[in-house]
Amino acid sequence: MLLSYLVPAFLASAMGVAKLVPPGFVTTNGVQFELDGEPFAFVGSNSFWLPLLLTETDVRNTFGQMKSQGVKVVRTWAFNAINSSELHQTPVETGLTYYQVWEDNDWILNEGSQGLERLDTVLEIAAEFDMRLILTFTNNWVGYGGMELYIDHILPGASTHDIFYTDEEMIASYQRYVRTIVERYKDSATVFAWEMMNEARCLGDLPSGPDCSAQSRTIPNWYKLQSDYIRSLDPHHLITTGGEGHFNWDNSTLIDDYNFNGEAGEDFDYDLTFENVDFGTYHLYPQSWYPDGNFPLGGGAEGWGLFWIQAHANSAKKVGKPVVLEEFGVTPQSNQTLIYPSWVQLALDTKHGIMPWQFGALGLTEDGGNRLLKYTDALVDGASPNDGYAVYKNETAVWNIFKNAAKIQDAA
Ligand SMILES: *[C@@H]1O[C@H](CO)[C@@H](O)[C@H](O)[C@H]1NC(C)=O
Ligand SMILES: *[C@@H]1O[C@H](CO)[C@@H](O)[C@H](O)[C@H]1NC(C)=O
Ligand SMILES: *[C@@H]1O[C@H](CO)[C@@H](O)[C@H](O)[C@H]1NC(C)=O
Ligand SMILES: *[C@@H]1O[C@H](CO)[C@@H](O)[C@H](O)[C@H]1NC(C)=O
Repeated sequence: MLLSYLVPAFLASAMGVAKLVPPGFVTTNGVQFELDGEPFAFVGSNSFWLPLLLTETDVRNTFGQMKSQGVKVVRTWAFNAINSSELHQTPVETGLTYYQVWEDNDWILNEGSQGLERLDTVLEIAAEFDMRLILTFTNNWVGYGGMELYIDHILPGASTHDIFYTDEEMIASYQRYVRTIVERYKDSATVFAWEMMNEARCLGDLPSGPDCSAQSRTIPNWYKLQSDYIRSLDPHHLITTGGEGHFNWDNSTLIDDYNFNGEAGEDFDYDLTFENVDFGTYHLYPQSWYPDGNFPLGGGAEGWGLFWIQAHANSAKKVGKPVVLEEFGVTPQSNQTLIYPSWVQLALDTKHGIMPWQFGALGLTEDGGNRLLKYTDALVDGASPNDGYAVYKNETAVWNIFKNAAKIQDAA
C-alpha cells in the first residue's frame, strides 16, 4: 500500500505492483487482465446495436443470451450522432437513438429518453448480468455518426480525413464529448475500458492527406494526446485505442502491404508503449483485406490469421501489456466452422481477450421483432442485425466454439 502510494502508476505496473482501484474494476498485470486481484480471461462479443433497442426486455434478453454463451465483456458504441435534418425525418426513424445533434459547427447533447438514457439502460442491465463494457467514443467510418461528422460541421469542405487528428477545434469538440461520457460513468465498475476510436486510419470515407502515415505519427500522437486526456479525467478505468492493429514494420517482404507498412496510420508496437494505453486491440478480416485471395506469407485466410494473431501476441509481450482480438470474422458459416477453431485456440494459448464480430440475438420482441434500425441494419423476425458475421445461438457449431473457449478459460 505504502509502495503503491509512493510509486507512479506506470512504474508500479512495470514493477508488478497492482494499481489501486475500486472493487470490481478491471486492471492489468503484465499480459493479463485482473479483476479483484484474480486473473480475468474472457470471451467477449461486439454489439453496436444494444443502445438502439427500444425496450428493456430486449436488452435484458440479449445480455441473457450473451451470458449463456459465457460472454463477459461486450463492446458497444458510446456514440450516436446525427445532424439536425436527420432529427426531422420519416416515421421509420422515430425510434432513433441519438446522443449528439450537430448544427452549424457544434453539437448539443441529448440526455433524454432517446438519448443517453438508452446507454444508461444498457449499463444498468449489463451490471445485472455482471458483464463489462468497452465503450467507444467515435468511429473512423460514417456509421452512426463518426468523426467525419465533426469534419463536415467544423471544417465543411475539408478534403482529407486525417485533419480530424490535428485540428484544434476538432480535438476540443471530441474532448468535450469524451468528458461528457467519462464523467457520466467514471464510477461504474461496468465500464471495462474507454476506447478512443473504432478503427482509426489516415483515410475514412474521405481520403488520407499526403502527410498522414505511421511515419508521420499523426495517429500515434493523437492516441497519446487523447489517452493522457482521458487519464486526467479518470484515474482508474483502462484505456485502449480500438485500432485494427496495423504495424509499421521495416520489412522488405511486406513493404507493399497496407497492414504492415504504416500506410494505414497506426503503429501497433509503438502505440502500445504509451503510458495510458493499457492494452492493445486489433481486428482480423483477411477476406476483405485481401479480396483477391492473395495472402502474403501463404497459408490462405486461416494461416494469415494465425500469423496476425501471433504477431500481436509477440508485440504485446514485448511491452508487457494484454492484448484483445477485438473484432474478427470470415464468411460464410462453413468458413467460420473451418477457421475459427484454430484462431480461437491460438488466442487462448497466447492469453488474448477474444471478441468475435458480432453477437446475434434471437427472440427480440419490439415492433413484433421487425424494425429498420438505421442504414440497412434491421431486426428481422426477432433476430438482431446480420452483416454475414452474426453468431446466433441456433447456429450451434459456431456458437459452441466460443462457449467452449469460455469454459476453458474458466477452468484454467
Ligand atoms: C444530414 O445527414 C444526412 C444523412 O447523413 C445527409 O444526407 C444530409 O446531407 C445532412 N445534412 C446536413 C445539412 O449536413
Ligand atoms: C518480416 O516478415 C517475416 C515474415 O515473412 C517475419 O518472419 C520477420 O520477422 C519480419 N521482420 C521484421 C523485421 O518484422
Ligand atoms: C472460404 O474462405 C476462402 C478464403 O477467403 C474462400 O476462398 C472461399 O471461397 C470461402 N468459402 C466459401 C464457401 O465461400
Ligand atoms: C438461426 O436464426 C437465424 C436468424 O433468425 C436464421 O437466419 C437462421 O436460418 C437460423 N439457423 C438455423 C440453423 O435454424
